[in-house]
Amino acid sequence: MAHDSLQIAVFGVSGRMGRALLAAIDEVPRSVLAGATASANSRWLGKDASEAAGGIKRNVSIEADPAVALRNSQVAIDFTLPEATATNLAACLAAKRPLVIGTTGHSEQVKAQIAAAAKQIPIVMAPNMSLGVNLLLKLVELAAAKLDADYDIEVFEAHHRHKKDAPSGTALALGAAAAKGRDVDTSEVAEYSRHGNTGARKRGAIGFSVFRGGDVVGDHTVTFAGLGERIELTHRASDRLAFARGAVRAAHWLSSQPPGLYSMQDVLGLC
Ligand SMILES: NC(=O)c1ccc[n+]([C@@H]2O[C@H](COP(=O)([O-])OP(=O)(O)OC[C@H]3O[C@@H](n4cnc5c(N)ncnc54)[C@H](OP(=O)(O)O)[C@@H]3O)[C@@H](O)[C@H]2O)c1
Repeated sequence: MAHDSLQIAVFGVSGRMGRALLAAIDEVPRSVLAGATASANSRWLGKDASEAAGGIKRNVSIEADPAVALRNSQVAIDFTLPEATATNLAACLAAKRPLVIGTTGHSEQVKAQIAAAAKQIPIVMAPNMSLGVNLLLKLVELAAAKLDADYDIEVFEAHHRHKKDAPSGTALALGAAAAKGRDVDTSEVAEYSRHGNTGARKRGAIGFSVFRGGDVVGDHTVTFAGLGERIELTHRASDRLAFARGAVRAAHWLSSQPPGLYSMQDVLGLC
């Protein structure tokens, strides 16, 4: 059936990002909610999406089974839990629907499943869907390429008290962008924790530090610390709508792409 608007399924509609996605779907032209899921234990199952996520009544009931949510949808957006992504991915593969994955913290096994599925369906996966952070990734790569190991690199992130994974997917991507700029392997230079007698800082190391508390939507700072000067590149998210708008934009872009694993850099033309 041909549609003027993009019919979108939201996996995880009752969550913080799910609520922001519904607002973004209302805001981005030619976008309609056509399916919605929550966990099998969710108190929202069987209710209209508007009851869990607010806004106008949509006549879309919240399901536990992603296959049901995909029936009337052309594309899906996943903001759930890392364990739930594998089930949602399998449903998209079976129904041959493109998938935008915003969920973070996947195991290596799930990452491999996503890469394999991308041979058959188009997938956008990005730990951060905002335009600002994706521009920051480019700026960090550029700065790291210009500043040698005399400049120590530290990635700091702060998030609300409910966030489950650490460091954030965005912090890891910023570390990877810095490593790419320096043409080194992230796994060889990353330092994820410090406690006790750690000794002096290793030359060329990329350090991570994490804050959790309150309702911080997401702050990231990459510092290049030299002798006598510091450069700090910072992004602060003040509203989840910034991520949600990017995810809906990615869904539109993805609906006309061939199978493949894409990033937000591809969607935004920043490659
Ligand atoms: N890429 C980005 O730009 C970006 C930005 C922000 C957050 N994130 C990531 O997005 C994810 C979600 O964040 P959030 O703050 O929205 O989390 P949240 O508020 O805890 O919401 C999680 C949602 O997933 C649902 N869910 C859990 N298990 C499920 C399952 N098996 N099948 C279907 N739905 C399931 C929950 O349903 P019930 O609770 O109703 O059961 C809830 O709707 C996290 O991984 C976070 O790191 C990414």
